[in-house]
Amino acid sequence: MSEKIQIFDTTLRDGEQVPGCQLNTTEKVEVAKGLEKLGVDVIEAGFPVSSPGDFNSVVEISRAVTDPVICALTRAKVMDINLAAQALKFAKRPRIHTGIGASDIHIQHKFKSSREKVLEQGVSAVKYAKKFVEDVEFYCEDAGRANLQYLAQMVEAAIAAGATVVNIPDTTGYNLPDVFGQKIKFLFENVSNIHKAIISVHCHNDLGLATANTVSGIQNGARQVEVTMNGIGERAGNTSLEEIVMILKSHPHLDFETNVNPKMITPMSNMVSRLMNMPVQPNKAIVGANAFAHSSGIHQDGFLKNKENYEIIDPEDVGAGDSNIVLTARSGRHALKHRLEKLGYIFEKDELEVLYVEFLNMADQNKQIDDEHLHILAKTETKIINK
Ligand code: KIV
Ligand code: ZN
Repeated sequence: MSEKIQIFDTTLRDGEQVPGCQLNTTEKVEVAKGLEKLGVDVIEAGFPVSSPGDFNSVVEISRAVTDPVICALTRAKVMDINLAAQALKFAKRPRIHTGIGASDIHIQHKFKSSREKVLEQGVSAVKYAKKFVEDVEFYCEDAGRANLQYLAQMVEAAIAAGATVVNIPDTTGYNLPDVFGQKIKFLFENVSNIHKAIISVHCHNDLGLATANTVSGIQNGARQVEVTMNGIGERAGNTSLEEIVMILKSHPHLDFETNVNPKMITPMSNMVSRLMNMPVQPNKAIVGANAFAHSSGIHQDGFLKNKENYEIIDPEDVGAGDSNIVLTARSGRHALKHRLEKLGYIFEKDELEVLYVEFLNMADQNKQIDDEHLHILAKTETKIINK
């Protein structure tokens, strides 16, 4: 039987930190309900100490959503943990996500402290959070650049203190996939109590490697992944939920599954884009406007002969409707015929030849040919057979 990968969605926390993407409480509840329908296992609802608005959003999401675990972020500080516990009081399955920097860069330049003191503060935070909730996740911030022996020591201490999940973030998106995977493997081989907790991976996309690093983390033992819709997040973003879900689905030999209903991916992507006022880049995998669009003549001809020639995912499977044959000056006769037939125009081969020359002139002038252009083009021909 396939092993389950827990989907931890942080669209409302790491995603919402993006400038211009802030949501009010009503909007956050709408996104959280959508994420529940999508089938995520954990919703990171916010960082309650950061503002009264964020505190309130965690309260309202805890009331409105029942199935997923509701998680609140804190620093390794009593004040943060107190507020997170209060904000989570209505959650059916609350989780406090606390932690501290693990790399020497963070220890020296952010905390101006020592490895020993930071470790102690992290352990105290886990123990304190355990007074409020059973489910405590511990993050080792900047684990991607941390000393491996020290990271292993930190993970072991956090689990001994009661952490149920330990998050290994590549906070700055620095790691290469094989290196990140080796780090997770090292932890499994060197942390004596590691099987008492779930290991989570949280990757950023500064070098465009967030998804590859997350997959490598899974292949080396991680069983929770921290992701956002459309890959939004600090700087270049976080690992995108839709990419991980569809990678695992498209490669069944990996033998992993998630609870996510793929048909909800496109509606959810649209909702997040609309509410956060954050357009999705057209070439974004799975959810970009061009993800299922074919525009060159060779591709269109191959696609029209058999979809599988150029598509590895059926757009219907991710709720994206039909594939799209885009007409440009690079398109061929087969695509033109297909689009004309969809509009009810049927032409003989020789008529289509004439029309194709007209079409190329039109496409050179207009870049993209839409239905309106096609109606004009078709009506210039004398023999039109309306369906
Ligand atoms: O990127 C990161 O390290 C984080 C932590 C707060 C989990 O977002
Ligand atoms: Zn992050």
